[in-house]
Formats: sequence, structure tokens, C-alpha cells
Amino acid sequence: MTDGLIKPHGSDTLNPLYVSDDQKRKELLKEAESLPSIVISSAAAANAVMLASGYFNPLKGFMNLAESISVAEKMQLPSGLFWPVPIVNVVKDASAIKGAKRIALRDPNVEGNPALAIQDVKSIEEISADQLKSMTEKIFGTLDPKHPGVAAFNSAGNILISGPIQVLNYSYFITDFPETFRTAVQIRDIFLKNGWKKVVAFQTRNPMHRAHEELVRMSMEAVGADGAVIHMLLGKLKGGDIPADVRDASIRKMVELYFEPNTVEITGYGFDMLYAGPREALLHAIFRQNMGATHLIVGRDHAGVGDYYGPFDAQTIFDQIPKGALELDIVRADHTVWCNKCQNIVMMRDCPHDKEDYLMLSGTKVREMLGKGEALPPEFARPEVAKELMEYYQSLEK
Ligand code: ADX
Repeated sequence: MTDGLIKPHGSDTLNPLYVSDDQKRKELLKEAESLPSIVISSAAAANAVMLASGYFNPLKGFMNLAESISVAEKMQLPSGLFWPVPIVNVVKDASAIKGAKRIALRDPNVEGNPALAIQDVKSIEEISADQLKSMTEKIFGTLDPKHPGVAAFNSAGNILISGPIQVLNYSYFITDFPETFRTAVQIRDIFLKNGWKKVVAFQTRNPMHRAHEELVRMSMEAVGADGAVIHMLLGKLKGGDIPADVRDASIRKMVELYFEPNTVEITGYGFDMLYAGPREALLHAIFRQNMGATHLIVGRDHAGVGDYYGPFDAQTIFDQIPKGALELDIVRADHTVWCNKCQNIVMMRDCPHDKEDYLMLSGTKVREMLGKGEALPPEFARPEVAKELMEYYQSLEK
């Protein structure tokens, strides 16, 4: 049965891998205690949470080596399914589970490393140095170990454990973010309850300043959306990024004060940031489609870091994928910024003015100002948002 919303990726209905039947889950939790087990990487645990939530529909578990290489090289599984980033369980040492057909995956991010999932082991394969290098290049567009996503991908290990999983909990995400963490299933339910069919999703790992607020508003208008969903990353970030709880509080303030009631939902998902720019934008599109959004905003340097990607590479990659690979559309946004002449936030492509009329503040400059207790200009940030951020930066200074 379909729910009347946009079709999930690769199947007619959503198949989340969380075991929702209480009795069955209890039995599996008990079974997990007696199985050979392994503590997995944070990235693999985040993959399990995404699979549990229905975001990585229609995958049934972790990819094997041939699948991972195919995805890295051709952005598709050997079955032909469009997929932009390998979803893997890679470890450094698999000796603890040698010969086992069924294993418990233990959570690295929760005290005591409780069982997060049970995996049926289909294969245990070694990724060669050449294969790892080639996959890294394809996914991240660089081999630079200073790239945070490359560093994480290349330090997880080279033993790949493939096979289907059954997920037993959502790691730390429900306990840490009870109001914000939502599964794709829950978000579809929210859209149905709201009667929203056309929904714009906004990906973020940052607090939202006026440019972002306006970006959401302009995108809603551009597509005639019934509503917007702010969908923030709640997993691990690189050092220097703003923690999810601070970001969450400031975004809630902004929506409460500056958006029409009942037009924006604030939600989040449990995944570690890859910083893979264009490839990550494609993954973002898949999981926004799975949660029922019809559109994803892709702006400037989407999911990027440093200077590794061109400012609009994450948009142009959508022109290179096969037609029909995705049902969701992207909203292509140009650089949004405050214009002194327009006295408003504008999208540069729609504004006749010049660089010197724009209020541009780098992330570094913003952090510096907040660290020193200097107020951010109200043209750049809503005062209530700036206050939340200031409190955070001031607490760091102590
Ligand atoms: S991201 O890594 O999650 O993409 P961020 O939270 O900074 O980073 O951005 C969220 C979304 O807003 C992305 O689509 C990004 O391209 C877009 N974006 C951020 N700032 C701007 C801006 N000034 N102009 C246009 N798009 C922007």
C-alpha cells in the first residue's frame, strides 16, 4: 500500500530495518547477547541508524566489495539501482567474528557498547590499498588526508563485512534529541497528518542565519510548497562545527518567531557528516525522497568543506545522473546574501547590485565575533538566533 506521497527510492513502499515488533525485538536483543560481536565504527553505526529509519530504502544492509566499488565508480549497484555512496561496515580487525554467520554489531557511541543491530554475514572481504584509494577519489574527489570525510573513510579499516541487518535501537539519537530526531516513517506520517503533498526539505549542519531563513522561504514560494521541513544532521561533525543541540535551539527560535505557524517542521536524522559535497548531495536527495519530500534545496557549497568542491558542483552533479534515477527535484539556489541597496536578503542572480553592496561574513569571522562577545549585524543574523550562539561561544571561552 502506498501512502499517496512521493514514492520511496527503489521500491513502492518504505522498508525500514528497525525491528518494530516489541516481542521480536526482545528476542533478537536476547539473541545478540549470545552472538559473536564486534564494536563497529561511528560511520557504520550511523549507516545502521539510517537503514533502521527507512532513509536508506531499499537497501537491506551493508554492501559488499563489488557493490561498493560499483557504487563508487558508477553510482549504481550491480542491480542497476542508483546509489551514490557506499554504505559499508568496515572494521580494522574481524578476528572476533571469524567464521560466524550471524553477529551482533555493538554501538561505539553509547556507553557499554550495547548491541545496535544483528547482521547476517554474507562475506568478509579485504579492501586493497588501490581499491580504497580509487573509492576515496571517486566519492570525495580528493585523497587529501586533511579532508575530514577522507580521514574518517580511510581510518575506519579495510575489512568489509557485508550482509543484511536487523536494527534494535536508534543509538543515542532518541535519548539526545527526543524532539528532533525523526525517522523517514515518522516524517511521512507528519506530512500526511499536515495534508502536505509538495514539501521542500532543507539540509543543514549549521545554525540558520537570515540567508538560510530566506532560502527556505524563497524555495517554498518558487515551487508552491505546502510546507517545508528543516532536516538537520544530528551525528558527528568535524571539530569547530556547532553542536547539534545549540543549532537545534537556535533554529527552533527562528522558526517560532519568523515563520507562519504550521508551515515548517523541524526534524533531524542520525548520520555522521561525510563532507562529500556533490556525492553527499545525491545521498541527501535519496533520503529526502524516502522521507516523503518532493524537493531538496541545494545551495552554495552544499555538504562541502574547505575548497574541495566548486560552489555549485553539488547542483551540476544532478545533471549527470540518469533520467528518472530520482523522483525528487532539487531547488537550485544561488548565493543568498544581504544587499545594502535592496535592503533585503537577495539571491545574487536576481539582484542587479555588486559585491561591495553585499554583507559577506565568513564562518571564521562569525565565530571570531561571537567568541569576543561582539553582536552579529541584524542583517546577517536574527538577534534571537545570535543570542543563542553567543551563549554557546561564550561558554567555550570560559
Ligand atoms: S551543509 O553542509 O549541510 O550543506 P549548511 O548547513 O551550511 O551546510 O548549508 C545548508 C544548505 O544551505 C545547503 O544547501 C547550502 O548549499 C545552502 N547554503 C548555505 N549558505 C548559503 C548561502 N549563503 N547561499 C546559498 N546557499 C547557501
